[in-house]
Amino acid sequence: MQLTPSFALAAVAALANSVSAVGVVGAAEGFAKGVTGGGSATPVYPSTTAELVSYLGDDSPRVIVLQKTYDFTGTEGTVTTSGCAPWGTGSACQTAINLHDWCTNYQPNAPTTTVKYDAAGILGIQVKSNKSLIGVGSSGVIKGKGLRLVSGASNVIIQNIHITNLNPQYVWGGDAITLDGTDMVWIDHVKTSLIGRQHIVLGNSASNRVTISNSEIDGSTSWSATCDGHHYWGLYFTGSSDLVTLKGNYIHHTSGRSPKVAGNTLLHAVNNYFYASSGHAFEADSGAMILAEGNVFQNVPAPVETPVSGKLFASPDASTNAACSTYLGRACQVNAFGSSGALAGTDTSFFSYFSGKNIASATTGQVANANVVANAGIGKI
Ligand SMILES: *[C@@H]1O[C@H](CO)[C@@H](O)[C@H](O)[C@H]1NC(C)=O
Repeated sequence: MQLTPSFALAAVAALANSVSAVGVVGAAEGFAKGVTGGGSATPVYPSTTAELVSYLGDDSPRVIVLQKTYDFTGTEGTVTTSGCAPWGTGSACQTAINLHDWCTNYQPNAPTTTVKYDAAGILGIQVKSNKSLIGVGSSGVIKGKGLRLVSGASNVIIQNIHITNLNPQYVWGGDAITLDGTDMVWIDHVKTSLIGRQHIVLGNSASNRVTISNSEIDGSTSWSATCDGHHYWGLYFTGSSDLVTLKGNYIHHTSGRSPKVAGNTLLHAVNNYFYASSGHAFEADSGAMILAEGNVFQNVPAPVETPVSGKLFASPDASTNAACSTYLGRACQVNAFGSSGALAGTDTSFFSYFSGKNIASATTGQVANANVVANAGIGKI
């Protein structure tokens, strides 16, 4: 049969759509470069929350495609118990579940309060090795439960999904994405919103090579530890041997820990857009090694919490930034600031750790600003 040109074009377009809908788009840059996830496994389309849990937690390499909302709220019941109100009981304030005896041990003087939370939010879905979890368009949503990569999980790609609504009223209500004892994980074009505890947490075990790119950390909330509509518990990187590339992310309406860095973490933060913070972006604790370049801070009163205990290179100017060339193979890019405080730091003593690693490229901060908002989060690929 002879195809008319317009029919042939439509057929090509349809094929291109179906191909892009079922595969990982692009490839990881930076430390997790080379991650393959589920590779060429035949895509599966979980029909229920139980099937999603099963595909993520089995021992087969899988490409798992989400094209609807998986609502876990109610699937494990609700719990009513006592908690505490360290920041008061005002309607804009988060209160805390007494999980891990946190209230008892760390907030002994806080008033006690009753908390009622959704049990599914507390612990994320276990994700094993060799998985790609991808969404179609902006339809792939996981509601009421996060993802948990632990105990040796490796080679995982999470792309173009939205994780939301994990007991946002409550500290300890749930973490969106947990890594603790992993290697080669790529989180890309993911949106997180309305989370109880951390949006992304790399725990104290070694999480090794991680790239978090083009993602939207949306801290807007009605329940905040700072009682001001901005979520305090953003990104938490405290692993014992972690190499984290944080590139092209849109991190907004947070009030702290965006990110908190400690343990023995080498963080390359490049071309991120930090917007509308009410507190600090970086918290650099003892052991942190942070190279920040090409980022934009807009309406961020404290790009870094002071005093800074960790090591920080803040790419201040062209002559100082030439120091990057020896270990990154190029000069670093300056950061940009609008209505924001300062980010100061010229510590290069940790640069040798970049040797032999895959290192993300950088554009100037001004370019990143426009690109990041248009590109970061779900539904942009
Ligand atoms: C993941 O895939 C790699 C490469 O095919 C394989 O060597 C490894 O055993 C897989 N891991 C698991 C836990 O199945």
